Amino acid sequence: MIDEQELTIDSRFLKKCEIGETRKIEPFTMVIFGGSGDLSRRKLIPSVLDLFMTGEVENFSILGCGMPEMDDEQYRNLMKEAVEEFGDRAAAEQKWEDFSKHLHYLTGKFEDEATYPKLCRIVDKIAPPTEKAATNVIYYMAVPPGVVPVIVEELRKHNLCKGFFNTKTIVEKPFGKDRKSAVELNRILTNAFDEHQIYRIDHYLSKEPVQNILFFRFSNFIFEQIWNLNYIDNVQITVAEDIGIEHRGAFYEETGVIRDIVQNHMLQILGLIAMEPPVGFSAEYVRDEKTKVFRSIRVFDKEHIDKYTVKGQYGSGTIDGKKVPGYRQERDVSPDSAQTTFFAAKFFIDNMRWAGVPFYLRTGKRLKKRITEICIQFKRLPLRLFGRTCDIIGPNVLTFTIQPEENIVLRFDVKYPYSEDQIYSANMVFSYQDVFKTSFHPPYERLLVDCIKGDLSLFVRQDSVEEMWDVVDPIIARWESAPAKDIFPNYEAGSWGPDAANGLIERDGRSWITK
Ligand code: BG6
Repeated sequence: MIDEQELTIDSRFLKKCEIGETRKIEPFTMVIFGGSGDLSRRKLIPSVLDLFMTGEVENFSILGCGMPEMDDEQYRNLMKEAVEEFGDRAAAEQKWEDFSKHLHYLTGKFEDEATYPKLCRIVDKIAPPTEKAATNVIYYMAVPPGVVPVIVEELRKHNLCKGFFNTKTIVEKPFGKDRKSAVELNRILTNAFDEHQIYRIDHYLSKEPVQNILFFRFSNFIFEQIWNLNYIDNVQITVAEDIGIEHRGAFYEETGVIRDIVQNHMLQILGLIAMEPPVGFSAEYVRDEKTKVFRSIRVFDKEHIDKYTVKGQYGSGTIDGKKVPGYRQERDVSPDSAQTTFFAAKFFIDNMRWAGVPFYLRTGKRLKKRITEICIQFKRLPLRLFGRTCDIIGPNVLTFTIQPEENIVLRFDVKYPYSEDQIYSANMVFSYQDVFKTSFHPPYERLLVDCIKGDLSLFVRQDSVEEMWDVVDPIIARWESAPAKDIFPNYEAGSWGPDAANGLIERDGRSWITK
């Protein structure tokens, strides 16, 4: 029997284990385009500070680059405020003096040629020396998608991508706004960088429970045997958020729910659930198998899109007892916007493993609560031996809760004590928190470390990006061809989305398991 104590691992210890010898991070310089923007303030600088606190990064420089006029000192103050708000406040107090020396700033317009020679001079001056002569430089594109090509072109023209420094670039999703623009963006990127220098970020891939899908599936004999159409009735993926679009009205008006969540986070999760066993665990093998899944998702025609997808936009409502505005009342949003904040669909994967098994997907802003969950519902037994008089035999369900809790739960039926034929649905729960005494895995830290180390496993490959666009492009085109101005808003903030999302699954005799 396993001693619970053996499994009780202190989170600090976990971190140390991870750091070990192999996690010693080489000196690097990170140039953040959009250095004072939202992503830098909320995620990037707090993550680097965290890595600094654990000792993983010691020898590094950050160069924020952007339009707001600032000197180094002002930039450091701005980032201090950001860390106090979004990061480890205590760390910021303790170690800020030491940490902030690594931060620098360059005021410059991205489209201005003069910015880049300046940038090069500063990097030359601040970059820490490495053992292998070349300076490691990461260009982080923390800018709106439309600006990325401009920066990359300038970097290329100024010979800053290859040769002079040892460089990599990190690009944030969405990669383009459809397949065509993704191909064009890639043309520009690969004109400047080699594929192995390009890191396309999908932060969902670095969430521990998302990574665990692969481990769970391919290290447990019992589940892998029944992971197919013979045993699985349907799969449900819910990515629900209770927040609205916050202060990102302009971005969201351009993007909408499909480009923001479905084309990337949701399809990546679906890929991990549905993929075949990879030949090995290296980045390319895993990415090969996921890409095959995207290629096998049935592409819908207009009629099927109307039948199998549900769009929505939130109106005002109440969440956690607080009144919240509707989408159209958010800042930088048109008062008659037809942009969508909710998506539900029934997908099919046309391959030997999944033919005929429906994959129900659902995501939206301002839903009842924040929860990301994958439910694998198994088929029912052919005979209701115990269920003749009590009709409560539910199917077995295996649930991966990704957030806010991190659990894997198997639901099965047992006899209700002292009854003759009453069945009780019990849950067998594996909780990360209880077993590993840790639950907080800041995604950007892991991704930054992987990028510095040159590990591409958790980053998205271009062929996957294009295949994912192929799945959603027809849906976006159909939705945009018939904008739903008059029916929006069609769900109340704090609800589970439009009624039609329930209809979508209920007409198949099923219901959403995540509630
Ligand atoms: C981002 C989206 O990629 O993911 C946001 O742009 C969304 O709209 C966020 O809120 C959700 O991430 P998480 O990790 O909080 O689930």
